[in-house]
Amino acid sequence: MDRPSVLLAVTDDLEVYRPALKIAGFDVFEPGAEAHAPTLAIIDCDLDPERFAQVRAALRASGGAPTLLLLGDRLPELGEAEMRDDIAVKPLPPDALVYRLQAMLIRAGRSLPAESGSWADEQAQTQTIGEGHVVSVFAPKGGVGKTTISVNLAVALREQTRSRVLLFDADVGVGNITAILDAPATMGLADLADSPPEEWTDAAFEHLTSTHAQSGLRVLTWGTDPGDSERVSVDLLLAALRWARSQHAWVIVDNHPGYADRTMAMLTLANEILLVVTPEMGSVRNSAQFLDLARQLGLADVTRVVVNRANHGISVADIGKALGMPVAATIVSNGPKAVIAANEGKPVITKFPKEKLATDLHQLARVVTRQPTQEAALTRRSWLPRFASRSSNA
Ligand SMILES: Nc1ncnc2c1ncn2[C@@H]1O[C@H](COP(=O)(O)OP(=O)(O)OP(=O)(O)O)[C@@H](O)[C@H]1O
Ligand SMILES: [Mg+2]
Repeated sequence: MDRPSVLLAVTDDLEVYRPALKIAGFDVFEPGAEAHAPTLAIIDCDLDPERFAQVRAALRASGGAPTLLLLGDRLPELGEAEMRDDIAVKPLPPDALVYRLQAMLIRAGRSLPAESGSWADEQAQTQTIGEGHVVSVFAPKGGVGKTTISVNLAVALREQTRSRVLLFDADVGVGNITAILDAPATMGLADLADSPPEEWTDAAFEHLTSTHAQSGLRVLTWGTDPGDSERVSVDLLLAALRWARSQHAWVIVDNHPGYADRTMAMLTLANEILLVVTPEMGSVRNSAQFLDLARQLGLADVTRVVVNRANHGISVADIGKALGMPVAATIVSNGPKAVIAANEGKPVITKFPKEKLATDLHQLARVVTRQPTQEAALTRRSWLPRFASRSSNA
């Protein structure tokens, strides 16, 4: 099967996208030059209106494709069809564009192209991706409570929904979920790292997965030996995430802090990102920087802010103001209980179910299950009035 193809219809100044897309493994077509319907399309709203309309009509006639609209200074006439498109506000750096397209490919049920340009094998190509919901727990800064939240959120989702839930430790090299959750995970992705991608099968991932007996939560880790960490590639993590999504209703990913490629991949492909903030200047500042980046990458609409240890320091209202985003959930600070539970390998919510710490964590799970997709779609649509007012001020 062919590599994924992208119809690139942009103004001349954005031709810089072409080499970036090729390196990322996409075939790039000019409008009118495509032999068949492209896999994806990128259309620049700053094209002149006639050209914009022509490109849209030709794309529709060829069968259509998931489209990324690049918004600049001009707001073209948009119909119902455009309201379903993905939107990115210019300027958009080439690597951000590539991440957006990769996320669109995954949502369309396609595999990612290999960077070398040697497009993945037939089996990977035809594999459809399941409907599981991926929640990536993230903070740019270490030590804010990501792992505590990931573990307890996963167990709470399992208790509340009784569906298949996977806790995925993607904090490669450092994370050790089994230090605070008594799950018999003796193997991890590092054990597959030396196998070729055709051996990254469903059965192989299943073999690496263990079950937390008390809750029925399933657990997949990157491994245990920091010496293995370099061998756990982005591709292996993505393959594991695709498998995880196809086999579970909920996948909770505990991430490494910061912006390394592995973490960015886990964020780009998440249905929802929980940004964990603590009420301190450093954490709030780092989180604001992340949200700037998330807006550029088109990830802000799927990001929700969770304030951990919310009863100390900067107020929740001030954190929401500083971040320009409402706080979706708060979790009270309770060091003694968090430590006792962790030391016993038990989730706080089962060890101390009556504590506010536990009820807050359960409430976070309820926030996550409240139809985020619908809310995200509504938020996405709200770009239009915002943009219209920006453009009328210009
Ligand atoms: N709400 C809370 N109240 C009290 N202590 C907490 C709370 N949340 C987390 N902690 C404690 O804070 C410490 C750091 O938490 P955790 O390991 O979950 O953070 P992290 O963001 O995953 O860190 P890292 O970046 O190192 O992976 C742990 O000792 C944990 O028990
Ligand atoms: Mg952690």
